[in-house]
Formats: sequence, structure tokens, C-alpha cells
Amino acid sequence: MTDFAVLRAPSQVLFGAGMAAAAGPLAAGYGRRAMVITDPRIAETEGFATVRTALGAAGLDVVVFTGAAVDVPVDAVDAAVALGGEREPDVIVAVGGGSVIDLAKVTALLLTHPGPLSAYYPVQSVPGPVLPLIALPTTAGTGSEATPVSVITDGATGMKVGVASPHLIPRHAVCDPLLTVGAPPTVTAHSGIDALSHAIEAYMAARETPSPELVLGRPQVGKNLLSDALALTATRAIAANLVRAVEDGGDIEARSGMLYGSLLAGIAFGNSGVSAAHALQFAVGAATHTSHGLGTGLLLPYVMEYNRPARPAELEALAEILGGDPVAAVHELGLRIGLPASLAEIGVEREDVRGLAEASVGIRRLIDNNPRPLDADALESILDAAWRGEPARLSSALA
Ligand SMILES: [Fe+2]
Repeated sequence: MTDFAVLRAPSQVLFGAGMAAAAGPLAAGYGRRAMVITDPRIAETEGFATVRTALGAAGLDVVVFTGAAVDVPVDAVDAAVALGGEREPDVIVAVGGGSVIDLAKVTALLLTHPGPLSAYYPVQSVPGPVLPLIALPTTAGTGSEATPVSVITDGATGMKVGVASPHLIPRHAVCDPLLTVGAPPTVTAHSGIDALSHAIEAYMAARETPSPELVLGRPQVGKNLLSDALALTATRAIAANLVRAVEDGGDIEARSGMLYGSLLAGIAFGNSGVSAAHALQFAVGAATHTSHGLGTGLLLPYVMEYNRPARPAELEALAEILGGDPVAAVHELGLRIGLPASLAEIGVEREDVRGLAEASVGIRRLIDNNPRPLDADALESILDAAWRGEPARLSSALA
């Protein structure tokens, strides 16, 4: 293998309990006016109050937008951009989960460059830097505090779309595990297994031939030495802490381990990209109205099984971390934290499977990043095994 590495990440990562208070002085470094973006639930939390107080103490003139919502609907984007347009902030501070941070990314974009947002759907179309963003995640998680991607809902089609550019990477990721203690068990489980999907899909991603055209032409460039190193450490942290964090939300050590794992997984896949589990989730999530993490977590072992022939060395390294066959270990971990056992269990009918495969095959950014070629038939075989809830079935079907 040719040595190859890419690292695009926040210019500053601050991690540790109590770190949220750093948001005030950091924001004051950009000017006098700050716009805080959050959602109605987070706005009521103690962690949010800590950030709000820190911004006030740093002398900032603060406006708070609490209208973030799951999947970043177009009206939330419009409202945030309208408020930002009135107040002309020098810096944006996002306090929340993936949807909040993703909303903050596109708000920072549209307060700097003209809309419509759809002008920025093509890869590498963001023309330059956007308003500085300080991201404080409250879930572990999407890793959005460290990635170049914002997943939003397109106003015209109602479909989820990714806007991706290195310019969208938050300037600062402030990761304070105390902000994550209030996340309910289901949110902890789904966001946590999503973080594991990021780590493992990053580690098993396609490997491209390094070139200046590749690294400058795409925000996410396939697996490489740095994404591998981060993804393995992330997998270790998540595997050691996910069950604990779900079972006891007040376990600060487990919360800290999860936030660390999701941050590293975010940096890893922010550079490498993810693949089939995420592509299939777009279709499964839209059809079943289930959460992103439920879908990626449920699908992950089946995608790993399909990719087994293409990534033997990676699966061996994962086996060492997970203490046994990694496909079985990930499947069992999902069941332990309460994921449904199959697609049938979340209401998918067997006759829907072909349509879901066909809806996913066109998501080229993710499909082309899979280590083993995928067509609609291959995606259908992955979904069929997931519909039955039997990862081993896939290996016999493919043998
Ligand atoms: Fe994800």
C-alpha cells in the first residue's frame, strides 16, 4: 500500500469536563456579537446555561435561536438565516446534537455566501470561508463538531441532502462530556452506535490513489493512515463505553469515553467518508421514520459482512479490539443496547426491499466509497439479510 494521509479538522479541539465555559473567551476572539443556535429541549438544560453564562461573562452581545429541529428542515434554515441577517453576528455558537450543529453550519454558510442552499449541493462548491463556528456537541454522536458535512432536508424534494466542504468544518470543537449527561438512553444508544458506524465505515472505506486532484477535489478522500489511526482508537473507546453510557447516563467516565470516541470517529470519517450503511440508511430512514443512528447501527454488521472479502486485514484488527468476530460483535452490541433485531421489526415489508436498494444505489458519494463494488442486487442482498436479522445469512448467500 502507498502511504497516504489527509487531516482536515477543527483548528482547535478542546476536550474535557467543564470545557464548555471556554466558549465565552473563544467567541469573544471573533468580535462582539454572537449568535447561539440550539433546540428547545437543549435550551432548558444546565449545560446550555453554562455556555450562555460564559458568553455573557465574556462581554458578548448574544442572540439565541432555539428553532433547530431534527433533520434540519428548510423552515429552520430560513428562520436562522433571517435572524442572523438581522443581527449580523461575528461568530456562531452551536450547542446541541447533529441537527443543531448541521443547522449552524449552513447558517454560517448562508450568512457569508448568497443562497439558495441548493447552489452548494455539488461537491466543493462552497467558494470560501464561512462565519466562524464554535460547536459544542450534546450527544456522542454524529461527530458533526469535527466534520465538513451538513445533512439537511431539501425544501423542494423533502429528501435529505449532504452539503460538504472543508469550509464547513467548525473552527472550534468544544467537547464537554458534562453536556451529554442529559441525553436519554435511546438517544445515547442510537447516536452511540452511529458513532461506531462512522469509525468502522471509515476504517473499511475505499482506498484511493493519492493525488493533488483527489485531495483538492473532494472533502472526503477514502481511508488513509490518519483516518485509520483515529478510527481504531474511536472503535476502542466506543466499544468500551457504549453499554455503560446507555445503562447509566450519569456515568461520567462512560460519557467521556463515548464523546471522545465520537469525536475521533467524526474526524476519521470527515476525512475518509462513510459508505453503504449510511447510503442504505437514507432510504430506510425515509421509509420507516426511524432515527439515523438506529438505521446505520442496524445495517452496519450486514455491510461489514458484505465487505468481508475486501477488508480481511481490517476485520482482523477490529476482531482484536472487539474480542471476537467483528460482525457478530457489532450485531450483538446493537441488540444489547436495544436496537431492533431486523428491518422487519421496524415495519419494512419484504417486498419493499428492492425499492430501498434502488433508492440507495444512486447516492454515489457513499456508494463509491464502499470497499467492494455495489449494485442494486448487492444492496438488496444486504437488506434481505438485515430484514431477516441474520448477518451470517449474507455470507452463505454470497458464497
Ligand atoms: Fe452517521
